[in-house]
Amino acid sequence: MDRLNGSARLMIVSDLDFTMVDHHDPENFALLRFNALWEAYYRHNSLLVFSTGRSPTIYGELRKQRPLLTPDITIMSVGTEITYGEAMIPDDSWKQYLDHKWDRGIVTEETAKFPELTLQSETEQRPHKVSFYVEKTKASEVMQALSKNLEKRGMYMSTKTAAEVVLELRNTIFEVLLQYYFVLCQLDVKIIYSNGVALDILPQGAGKGQALAYLLEKLKAEGRGPVKVLVCGDSGNDAELFTVPEVYGVMVSNAHEELLEWYAENARGNPQIMHATGRCAAGIIQAFGNFSLGPHVSPRDVRDSEERNQRILNPGHEVVNFYLFYERWRRGEVENSELYMQNLRTLFNSSANYVHPSGIDQPIHQVIDTLAKLYGDKRETDFWVWVDCVSFAEISRDSWLVRFNKWEISGNELLCCLTKGLMNSKVDAPHELTWMYLHQTWLDGSVPDNDKTWCI
Ligand code: GLC
Ligand code: MG
Repeated sequence: MDRLNGSARLMIVSDLDFTMVDHHDPENFALLRFNALWEAYYRHNSLLVFSTGRSPTIYGELRKQRPLLTPDITIMSVGTEITYGEAMIPDDSWKQYLDHKWDRGIVTEETAKFPELTLQSETEQRPHKVSFYVEKTKASEVMQALSKNLEKRGMYMSTKTAAEVVLELRNTIFEVLLQYYFVLCQLDVKIIYSNGVALDILPQGAGKGQALAYLLEKLKAEGRGPVKVLVCGDSGNDAELFTVPEVYGVMVSNAHEELLEWYAENARGNPQIMHATGRCAAGIIQAFGNFSLGPHVSPRDVRDSEERNQRILNPGHEVVNFYLFYERWRRGEVENSELYMQNLRTLFNSSANYVHPSGIDQPIHQVIDTLAKLYGDKRETDFWVWVDCVSFAEISRDSWLVRFNKWEISGNELLCCLTKGLMNSKVDAPHELTWMYLHQTWLDGSVPDNDKTWCI
């Protein structure tokens, strides 16, 4: 989150499974729409936070399977692990806070007495999270009995909301940051039921809501509290997110019964929380519009080239639009017209150069000539292109240094090029941008067998 100097215009905190990622949408339509919207209009001044029940291991697996953007902050294992940036630097203060009055041993002993509980895989058992599966019909009974047993062992249960915990955190956060173990919280464990199947036991101070409250306090303490926050979820462990004060919230259309019931009992009528009609990422995009959080039309939904040609001086938007065109050209989804190629030529300065990841340097217009011949070559293939981590800095008047990761999936092959470029505004049309230079390198581990592979 150090990427931004000041406050984020928007901080979006989204669950992954069946919220950001639709496992019933193998083509990732809605997710790719979200990605284009985020990179074109939000990445440069907003924060993307993923908050998932997944452990780091299976979160990593999901990132390999789906076109997920790189978040600024990752909250994993149901709010028990927080990491920052692409390097995923762990927040040790949060870990220390969660150690308070948490005894994993007692939890394992007591849960072992319930044959209805089936332990989840080893990867999902984490320092501050013990996870099981339990049948829906038995869940409530087991949770009650287990709570009683844990209380007898000195572990106190509560249904405290994130709002109450915020007050607590306000008083304790500085101690936490200073690595004291003194916490006002008197409570010990919490049990959460999600997805109509999963049962998690966590320290009372943990959970997605508390982790978010902690982050917001931390940002505020640094004078960088986000202007607006949108939380997005679909299941039981997301409910707490909606209790964090002042946030906007979207329950995606496919939200589970347990979340909708929680809403009906606790938050009905709250104008800051909506139940979208769109599934997963489509519901998130809908919330951008509903709460007037900023642009809410994904560049992927703008089909009309005229409209797209009304350029705004935003290098992020330019990058997203170029690669959308590139994808559609190769999929043969736009008209095969010389006009498009002429337009493209004006997008690149006549003296611009392109350095291919293999090191070959050539005039970019040669590259455009090759692209012209590739029209429709991916028509029969699963072919998708998206950009991640788009950043730009104005290095002199009307001149921007642009960086991004360009991802391309073609059949079973996944390629990523780290891309750097220079963009200037055009002398004869100052509201339009033109590429002066483009340089790509393969992302580690993504070098194709034939490293001369065509690439832009
Ligand atoms: C994810 C985790 C699992 C957890 C569930 C609900 O699926 O992998 O351990 O129980 O989320 O929070
Ligand atoms: Mg989910």
